[in-house]
Amino acid sequence: MKIKNICCIGAGYVGGPTMAIIAQKNPDINVTVVDINEKRIAAWNDENVENIPIYEPGLSEVVKEARGRNLFFSTEVDAAIEKAEMIFISVNTPTKTYGMGKGMAADLKWIELCARQIARVAKDDKIVIEKSTLPVRTAAALKDILDNAGNGVKYQILSNPEFLAEGTAVEDLQAPDRVLIGGDIDTEEGKAAMQALVDIYAKWVPQESILTTNVWSSELSKLTANAFLAQRVSSINALSELCEKTGADVNEVARAIGMDSRIGPKFLKSSVGFGGSCFQKDILNLVYIAKSFGLDEVADYWEQVIIMNDHQKKRFAENIVKTLYNTVSGKKIASLGWAFKKDTNDTRESAAIYVADYLISEQAEIVVYDPKVTEEQIYADLDYLGTRSEEENRKLVTVIKDPYKVCKDSHAIAVLTEWDEFKSYDWQKIYDCMLKPAFVFDGRDILDAQKLSEIGFNLNSIGKPKIEAVKKEAVIAE
Ligand code: NAD
Ligand code: UDX
Repeated sequence: MKIKNICCIGAGYVGGPTMAIIAQKNPDINVTVVDINEKRIAAWNDENVENIPIYEPGLSEVVKEARGRNLFFSTEVDAAIEKAEMIFISVNTPTKTYGMGKGMAADLKWIELCARQIARVAKDDKIVIEKSTLPVRTAAALKDILDNAGNGVKYQILSNPEFLAEGTAVEDLQAPDRVLIGGDIDTEEGKAAMQALVDIYAKWVPQESILTTNVWSSELSKLTANAFLAQRVSSINALSELCEKTGADVNEVARAIGMDSRIGPKFLKSSVGFGGSCFQKDILNLVYIAKSFGLDEVADYWEQVIIMNDHQKKRFAENIVKTLYNTVSGKKIASLGWAFKKDTNDTRESAAIYVADYLISEQAEIVVYDPKVTEEQIYADLDYLGTRSEEENRKLVTVIKDPYKVCKDSHAIAVLTEWDEFKSYDWQKIYDCMLKPAFVFDGRDILDAQKLSEIGFNLNSIGKPKIEAVKKEAVIAE
């Protein structure tokens, strides 16, 4: 089966970069990415390729190469569906905020809307691919909706979960550890559909890295991968608290255990807590599915990963209050970083939001600098929590595009994202313009603690005992 036209519904963090790479590597296939969000599509089509809506290192170059040649962005969803032999569904599947499963289950309303739209529009046979992360057995629901459209069109449903991480999306897509394709392995039609997708990836991914499984294994593997990854972060973060109490250094512990080839060195970086749009949502989804099968012990086991993560964010904020003499009321605290990790402008579930919210509730004034996140986004994140009015958030939080101005006259600096540029700042200059004693709370442990303490900072790095300033200042801030 030769595919000539692909449609991808959803031009977000996954749909955009994934389709850009597929188009780059398959110049003979037309790839149209559609979305109902007109603003987003307009940004993908912006003449200046640097203005595309998602910041990922290397992405603008790929878009520049393929856009207008065989990569298109459009709001005309029906037309793209009709034309394509293969349709990826890459829409959002956030945690439900209402009704049954509220706060746990994945909200599948956008997925179902896509299925109904495909069923309404399609005139010839289609391969429909789940690119979004979905609860195991969603393919059965999709098939039910599509097969009952009554227009004689035949569908093959494949699961092809995406494993890219934000900030390294292009790298991850260009050289994935594996590509996973789940489908109906018991029928010839199913196998042919899977092969059509294998052929697309085989243009640049080695055959041995393309795994084919039954559709349920593929769906469940995606939730499992994220649960295991998040579990590693929560495990090392749990140990970071013990390190702070005992004099052990969490980085040294991580290195020592990571050299055991059975454990491995990756994903053992202690932090102020994991964020991002996937980990929490997907674990909650896994917990919900386990509960719905009556598997309470399985559900409780995985829920602990989230409980630990919430604890890590809260204890980081609490430590700031306790260290600043039990009050931050009226004190200026500089937040370096807002994104959930470096090299992305995505802030979904970022630990920074929760730390800032906690400190604002303690009446602190927060001043934020992030190299890629907009002021509008920062206020939107705080407003979304609904802790206080929009006016109060704007009164208590200031966003400045200059890190030195952000730190000026502050009582403390909290490093909440691990942006590389923070390491190369002139920390003496920052120290000189802060109130004394000057505190740094390094939630990512990226700064040179020894050097900073010699300048005069008091250092609180995650997973390490506190380091007092070597050169104490006599002046105490008012
Ligand atoms: P996103 O919110 O950035 O993008 C989703 C897009 O789908 C939005 O632009 C939205 O307008 C559009 N959309 C929703 N319903 C639509 C409809 N009916 N028709 C047309 N467009 C519609 O989400 P994302 O981060 O790209 O995630 C998409 C899926 O991929 C989710 O299931 C997520 O769990 C999964 N995933 C995300 C990542 C990641 O790093 N962000 C990684 C792997 C998997
Ligand atoms: C994750 C998965 O890695 C990816 O495979 C999946 O497709 C989507 O979800 P992402 O959320 O983009 O990707 O980023 P990731 O690098 O996994 O980081 C998630 C969070 O964990 C970030 O807040 C990061 O700072 C934190 N983290 C990660 C740590 O605190 N320590 C680590 O060692 C690794």
